[in-house]
Amino acid sequence: MRYHRVSTNVVSMHKQNLSFELTIFDDLEELPQDDKKLLLKAVEARKNAYAPYSQFQVGAALVLENGAVVIGNNQENACYPSGLCAERVAIYHAGATYPGERIKTIAITATSKKYIVDRPAAPCGNCRQSISEYELKQGAPIKILMMGETGKVLQCDSIADLLPLAFNDSFL
Ligand code: THU
Repeated sequence: MRYHRVSTNVVSMHKQNLSFELTIFDDLEELPQDDKKLLLKAVEARKNAYAPYSQFQVGAALVLENGAVVIGNNQENACYPSGLCAERVAIYHAGATYPGERIKTIAITATSKKYIVDRPAAPCGNCRQSISEYELKQGAPIKILMMGETGKVLQCDSIADLLPLAFNDSFL
């Protein structure tokens, strides 16, 4: 498991650089077949998003260790905060349906009725926190694939890369 380790036992003030590796694919076609298939499931999932307010439709597809694919899409609400992002719909669905089954990869993609999303959609802070909980719970990294409607695909090998200094159960 990868963490961005921060030294807290140093007495004097100092700075520390945290870094992570981002893999950048020029387009979907460059991805390994399995990852491409998963992203295409996310593309399918985003078509069923319920996003009448933002017109921004997000799809997520995650693959579990047993090979099952679980999808999610954003579900909005007239009372805006009651809606939920695609990533959390998918990850909670997986937790409810396959408890104890490790999540290997989550693919995320977004489209908009207002403009062409030509850059990767990154998960919001709340979704990062939720994915982080499951990564820590399963003790193995979750790979994140991010894509817009067209253009480059980004890959992180762990949610810890997108959420350094995450809050977790060790503080409780
Ligand atoms: N949204 C997601 O589904 N995932 C994210 O990570 C970012 C935002 C949704 C929430 C809302 O329905 C719409 O996109 C606009 O914020």
